[in-house]
Amino acid sequence: MNDKKPDRMVDSDPKPEDQQDYALRPKTLAGMIGQDNIRENLEILISAAKHREEALDHVLFYGPPGLGKTTLAHILANEMGVNIKITSGPAVERAGDLAAILTNLNEGDILFIDEIHRLGRAVEEILYPAMEDYSLDIIIGKGPSARSVRLKLPRFTIVGATTRLALVTAPLRARFGAVYRLDYYTSEAINEIIRQASKRLEVPSDEKGITEIASRSRGTPRVALRLLRRVRDYAQVRGEGVITPDISKKALILLSIDEQGLDIMDRRVLQAIVVKYQGGPVGLKTIAASIREDPDTIMDVVEPYLLQLGFIQRTSQGRVATQQAYIHLGLEPPADTAQPRLIT
Ligand SMILES: Nc1ncnc2c1ncn2[C@@H]1O[C@H](COP(=O)(O)OP(=O)(O)O)[C@@H](O)[C@H]1O
Ligand SMILES: [Mg+2]
Repeated sequence: MNDKKPDRMVDSDPKPEDQQDYALRPKTLAGMIGQDNIRENLEILISAAKHREEALDHVLFYGPPGLGKTTLAHILANEMGVNIKITSGPAVERAGDLAAILTNLNEGDILFIDEIHRLGRAVEEILYPAMEDYSLDIIIGKGPSARSVRLKLPRFTIVGATTRLALVTAPLRARFGAVYRLDYYTSEAINEIIRQASKRLEVPSDEKGITEIASRSRGTPRVALRLLRRVRDYAQVRGEGVITPDISKKALILLSIDEQGLDIMDRRVLQAIVVKYQGGPVGLKTIAASIREDPDTIMDVVEPYLLQLGFIQRTSQGRVATQQAYIHLGLEPPADTAQPRLIT
């Protein structure tokens, strides 16, 4: 297994240079592009909470990385006019750490817990009464003289985010009043995100140049913004500084990203299923081991997008390549290959 994650252009995990994106991050629901259904739901949630002068209900966002979970958490705080504290599942090591964070919250504050599926059991158990009754049970002393004391907490809101809803335990999930799934963006939305970002970055671009980038951004804003920056660099060094279709195409070819937005790792996964395992079915862990990649990256980033494209299907025996996958790799699909499902 690789110690270090490979550097992928289409990786939807944040990278240090993505810090620049924070300035591009929409601050209000109205300023956010796409995810219309979630935005409307949140608008209602916010108005209702404000109307009742209550803290917002606990909210859980899930979906592949780079689609806007963290952005939405900040938007919620901004729209509610409250403070947001940020932590993550792996960062909260002991129950005491979480207790300290919770007792420091003010009325109405949002505590954003990223990668919430990675919270430890003991930590999670502190969270149950905190979310439900705004109370904290702490044990004082040790051994036979230990006693439990119940502390009252201010009414606060937990906003959780996860790429793996299946790994969020049922009791934790049940304590969220609202659960939203973020899906890949439509090409119109991605086009608009790139258009607005190129304006803010002051990079001249033509409409077709933007479309060229958008079509390879795998419906993911983080990827779209990253590709935009790389194409901008290319345009400034090899072109006239303008993002044209020709410049975009050349820059993206240089980055080894194909017309569907697949990079080398995606293609290696597809090739492993198709060639090494004769089209599957094969388990993801087996694939990861065979191409010596991190199974988590394959599960979070590669698989959802290949599923979305209809290149692979999930069966109880494992992943199966569809005809589209063979065609994309330039191979002849065997007669009995799965037909891609219609994604609705
Ligand atoms: N709807 C959107 N409109 C514009 N930019 C967006 C949108 N959603 C996400 N982004 C940008 O994409 C990047 C990734 O979003 P983020 O919220 O960090 O994703 P996640 O937390 O789901 O991994 C951010 O830099 C943000 O600026
Ligand atoms: Mg995030």
